[in-house]
Amino acid sequence: MADGTFRLAIIGAGGIAGAHAGAVKASGDRLTITAVVDLNAESAQKLAGDFGARSYASAAELFKANKAEKFIDGVVICTPPSARIAIVELALKQGVPVLSEKPLAHTFADAKKLASLAKKYKKTPSFVGYCHRFVPAVHDMLRMTGEGKIGSVVRWENAFACDLPGHETKWFSDPKKAGGGAYLDMGSHSVDLFHFMCGVSTTLGAVFSHKWKGRTETAATVLLKSGKPSKTNAAGANLKAGVAGSVVSGWAESSRFTVALVGDKGSFFYDYEKPAELIFKDLLGKSETITVESHDVRFARQLVAFADAVQNKAKTNLASFEDGLVAAKAFDVALKLAKKK
Ligand SMILES: NC(=O)c1ccc[n+]([C@@H]2O[C@H](COP(=O)([O-])OP(=O)(O)OC[C@H]3O[C@@H](n4cnc5c(N)ncnc54)[C@H](O)[C@@H]3O)[C@@H](O)[C@H]2O)c1
Repeated sequence: MADGTFRLAIIGAGGIAGAHAGAVKASGDRLTITAVVDLNAESAQKLAGDFGARSYASAAELFKANKAEKFIDGVVICTPPSARIAIVELALKQGVPVLSEKPLAHTFADAKKLASLAKKYKKTPSFVGYCHRFVPAVHDMLRMTGEGKIGSVVRWENAFACDLPGHETKWFSDPKKAGGGAYLDMGSHSVDLFHFMCGVSTTLGAVFSHKWKGRTETAATVLLKSGKPSKTNAAGANLKAGVAGSVVSGWAESSRFTVALVGDKGSFFYDYEKPAELIFKDLLGKSETITVESHDVRFARQLVAFADAVQNKAKTNLASFEDGLVAAKAFDVALKLAKKK
């Protein structure tokens, strides 16, 4: 291990832990995994084996061992959201920085508790894994908007949807464990990305539908409206408050992973299924394909940003727990609007 290599523990060795492990491998000497925790000892051992890391069957065991030997610089929490409060508290109490997967929590009440833990232990950095903030095309769209290519921004359009029939019997669609369905799972990424690109939103309307009886929503269509963008947003004067955001989230439909930024002089369209192409269209419909770096780098960029924020106190695009709370509130509002007759 090189000097300065950032040593991670992964807590929850399921599906998304694999994406983080791939990102660690892609980082060369910048990152490594020194411990893996899962309630399922076999899952923990399997992932740990790839890195010569230690494995534990609980977060409590990990932090007990780390107190004595100090072998982690940060944790990535990849459990279902309902399991996070105790783990985050153990980490922050010990001064171990946290990157917790999205959504911050499965309920607004838990999200508030997590945000207040982050405040209580504010000397220890804590972030939420809203990885679409690290998609290169997102930054290219904002930069070129700042340069005037699409004029003044009018609308942001996004779909994160696909067919996930296996979710019908997993914790993902269990109202108690997941708190929400497609709109919390995929839509929390959307809401956070809208906040990152355009400004924090108000939710104006929401329609949810449920394909699976007694389970969480399988589809959501939501209308957002932005408030003031951040002063540092690269779109600058071409982005003002009042941008409309349309969000489509789905677990039981054909796959679409797209983000569009529409201005009064043209638009950008990014399709994750064509990862190296950003399409610009002018008002006459003439299109230009701009080559961009693939969104595949987002997990690696996010983890390196985590390491840089902790080790070098670098400025970061990572979502804070406060950002996670804002997205959680947006879900709560949408859920109430969707229930209205
Ligand atoms: N950023 C992304 O694009 C993205 C993609 C997929 C999933 N996610 C998020 O990642 C989280 C995990 O999703 P997943 O698909 O990996 O789920 P998963 O069910 O595949 O894995 C979760 C793992 O956590 C373990 N676990 C549960 N409780 C635990 C505890 N208390 N301590 C230790 N381990 C525990 C389970 O045994 C399981 O192995 C979710 O919040 C999900 O929304 C993010």
